[in-house]
Amino acid sequence: MAFLRNCWYVAAWSEELGDGLFARTILGEPLVLFRDRAGRPAALLDRCPHRLLPLSKGRLRGDAVECGYHGLTFDAQGACVRAPGQDRVPPKACVRAYPVAEHLGMVWVWPGDPERADTALLFDKLPQWALAQGATPAWGLNCGPYTHVRANYQLLTENLVDPAHVSFVHPSTLGTAAMVDIPVETTQVGDTLLVTRWTLDSPAAPILQRFGKWPGNVDRWQYYWLFPPSIAVVDFGSHTPGMAHSDAARDAGLRIHSCHFLTPESETSTHYFWFQLRNFAQTDPEVSREITEQFVIAFAEDKAVLEAIQEAEAAPFVQERVKLALDSGSVRLRRTVARMIAEEEAALSMPTTPARTADSTVAH
Ligand code: FES
Ligand SMILES: [Fe+2]
Repeated sequence: MAFLRNCWYVAAWSEELGDGLFARTILGEPLVLFRDRAGRPAALLDRCPHRLLPLSKGRLRGDAVECGYHGLTFDAQGACVRAPGQDRVPPKACVRAYPVAEHLGMVWVWPGDPERADTALLFDKLPQWALAQGATPAWGLNCGPYTHVRANYQLLTENLVDPAHVSFVHPSTLGTAAMVDIPVETTQVGDTLLVTRWTLDSPAAPILQRFGKWPGNVDRWQYYWLFPPSIAVVDFGSHTPGMAHSDAARDAGLRIHSCHFLTPESETSTHYFWFQLRNFAQTDPEVSREITEQFVIAFAEDKAVLEAIQEAEAAPFVQERVKLALDSGSVRLRRTVARMIAEEEAALSMPTTPARTADSTVAH
C-alpha cells in the first residue's frame, strides 16, 4: 500500500524525546529521533551506512549520533562528521535526514520530498490549542498516552468519520441508545470531510453527564472533522434542549474537541496520538485526569474492534462487503486519500529538477 508522503506526520510526543536516542518506525521507515543541545529535534534514518547497525543502538554525543559498532558519527543533517581510525570521512558516509518540526506538543516528521517540507503546512485548524496555554486558559487540555494499534491507519480514520459506531462500541462513555437510529450527514469541502449528527432532547453521553449534571434531557452534537490523510477532530458536546446549533451556541454548552493524530507505522499498524480540549473546568487537573481515563477506556474499545478487523482482513471469508448508509464518510475519505496519493505519485513520475542537498531541519 502506498502512503501519502508529502505531509507532516506526528512521530512522537515532545516529551518522548528526552536526552537520548529514540527509535520509531513511520511509513515503514525506521527513524532515530533526538534533540541537539539547544533542544531542537532531529530525525535520521535509523541505519548506519557502514554495517547497518540501527543508529538508535549507539550514543548521542553533543549534537551528533555515534554509531554503537565502530563509531561513525552523524550530525542532525545526516552528514558524517567523524570516522574513527582514519583522517578522511568516506564521501558516501551520510544518512538520510528528515525535516522535523515541533508543534502542538508533538514532534512532526515530513517523510516525503524534503524540498517540499514547509512549516506553513503544519496542522493549523485548532485555534483552541493556543487558548489552552497560560495561567487562565479558555480551554482545558488533557493528553492521552502514546497508543499503538495493530491496524492499518485507514481503519482508524474511517472509525473517526463514523459517529454511528459510538452507541455500540462505547456505551459506558460516549454512546447512548437514543442516537442509534439517527442518520449522519456527510459533507466535504475540498479534501476536508465533516460528518455530523444531532441527537435532540435525549440523555447526555455518560462522559459529559458527569460534568454537566443536567437534570433532564439535552441536545447533543457530534461533528467529526477529518483532515486527510489522518488527522481527526471530533467536536462533541451538549446543551439544554432547543438551543441553536451555531458554533457560538455550542461554545455555550459543554464542549470537547477530541483530537486524533494517526501515523502509519506499517501497512498493518499505527501510532496514535490524542488529546482533548474542553471548555469547562479548564484548570482542574482532576478533571483532566478523569477525561483522559474515560478516553483511555473508549479508545481501548476502538482498538479491540479495529485490531480484530485487521486480523480478519488476512482471511476475510467474505466475497463482497455490504455498504450501509453510515458508510458515506468512510467511502469519501478512502476515495479522497486514494486520489491524493495518486496525484502525488503522478507528480513523482514527471521529470523534475535534480534535488539539491539541503539543510533538512525546518525551523519553526
Ligand atoms: S556499523 Fe556503524 S560504524 Fe560500523
Ligand atoms: Fe470510537
